[in-house]
Amino acid sequence: MLPYVAALVAVALLWVYLKWQKTSRFWADRGVPHDKPHPIYGSLTFLQKKNPAHFMIDLRNRFQAKYVGIWLFWRPSLVVNSPELARNILTKHADNFRNRYLGSGPSDPIGALNLFTVNDPTWSWLRRRLTSMFTSAKLKALQGLFVKKSKELVTRIDSGLEAKKDIEIRNMFADYTTDVIGAAAFGLHCDATLTGESPMRTVTKSFMEYSYYRGLNWIAIFFFPELVETFRFRFFPKTAEDYFKKVYKAIVKERGYNPNSEPKDLLDALLKMKHEAIENNEEISDDLVIAQAAVFLQGGFDTSAVMLSYLTYELAFHQEAQEKMYQELLEAKNKLGPDQEFDGAFLSELPYLNAVMKESLRKYPPMGWLDRISEHEYQVDDDLTIPAGTPVYVNAVGMHFDPEFFPEPDKFIPERFLPENMKDNLAFAYMPFGEGPRNCIGMRFAHRAIWYALSTIFLKYKVFPKPNAKKPHEIVAEKNAIFLMPGEDIYVDFVPRN
Ligand code: HEM
Repeated sequence: MLPYVAALVAVALLWVYLKWQKTSRFWADRGVPHDKPHPIYGSLTFLQKKNPAHFMIDLRNRFQAKYVGIWLFWRPSLVVNSPELARNILTKHADNFRNRYLGSGPSDPIGALNLFTVNDPTWSWLRRRLTSMFTSAKLKALQGLFVKKSKELVTRIDSGLEAKKDIEIRNMFADYTTDVIGAAAFGLHCDATLTGESPMRTVTKSFMEYSYYRGLNWIAIFFFPELVETFRFRFFPKTAEDYFKKVYKAIVKERGYNPNSEPKDLLDALLKMKHEAIENNEEISDDLVIAQAAVFLQGGFDTSAVMLSYLTYELAFHQEAQEKMYQELLEAKNKLGPDQEFDGAFLSELPYLNAVMKESLRKYPPMGWLDRISEHEYQVDDDLTIPAGTPVYVNAVGMHFDPEFFPEPDKFIPERFLPENMKDNLAFAYMPFGEGPRNCIGMRFAHRAIWYALSTIFLKYKVFPKPNAKKPHEIVAEKNAIFLMPGEDIYVDFVPRN
């Protein structure tokens, strides 16, 4: 018996050895630059030690190549650093790259069926229906909400100043973005911007839990989806999901469904989608509907809150840029008159405000690498063809730090995004919202949430670093998160302008 077992073990070991030999030669055989892979983690030895965005920046800087081969554990994957190739993958050949590699499992339907994770054809079907939520008319109708919530930010800061309390901006902005998405998407009007608490905020606070265990869930979902089901990993924390389902069902019950009225928010659009499906004898599960509601909240609140936090922190250290933005806002406000509120179209025309936003998203794109999977065998260029099923990452954040496109990339220089200074080769080298049919569906909503918060706050206060504050580049990024975000609380001093 023993000799048989020993022989079997020897054969198994030999198989693993040969498989590893073949796997680890994958990129060398194709002449693609790469680092030697680790026998277990492949190229992912950085996980839970540093944020993936920094791995991507480092990869571009070290190799200076249009693409680099990596391994997600044992799976060869391609990181693309070239705008031309990015254009091909994200738009020209988008039909071959409709899906992301990431994914969750059948035991996690809310995580697996949402617009961000779901595959075609469900994805196209959903995307067509959900896009209607972001028309200009719908966004315009939200102006009152943005004005009200951004004024509440000022009330919040004023009460902090009165109480002589330090103001932590990461959570303050997350309170604000949770309120605006809660109201715009679900018609749920809450006061987290004023108080830091609300039913939706309870949900988003648990989304913000970046523990070691949550980190493992994200790692499996993004880099080893085959493992997700075995370990029952989840896209959203279970407690948040249960609570969110309860809140969602209560709102739906209270609101009901009127087939004759135009959907005014995401919830209406979702209910309409469900009823139309029933009429067409199609099946749409409650989980599919709830999954979309959950991902809009998750995708929307933290990205915008993180962006506002980094931007405010950078401006505290760049008084000249802050003053230019203030003067532009002041002039615009004076032109409008004291009783007139800014509208989205007006704010979109302010060059310096928008340059500051773009520069902040260049340095800190919350989702700086764009995940796709090649459905078929794909010819990347004359030298390289990748097999069907290869994960491909377009390294947007890496290109954002390429001095060829953005000289002195570590510096915060909003002027580079002023219309007169814009280089014409930036298409597909600058992609904070992604590109192509699978780009960010909430971009125009995010712009508005950010414009209103910034214009209201910076007209009212000067912002300074706290004494002995860390420089912006010293703020540690969250190492257990997949996306780029601060791993620590962020404080600034607000000083009222007369
Ligand atoms: C500063 C704010 C934001 C940034 C930087 C951002 C960035 C991104 C990026 C880079 C992607 C992937 C695009 C790609 O793969 O090409 C994405 C996808 C997505 N975003 Fe955003 N986002 C922001 C705000 C929002 C908001 C406010 C919402 C919802 C209200 C939202 C909902 C989504 C959804 C649902 C997807 C998946 C789209 C799909 O696969 O069809 N995002 N976002």
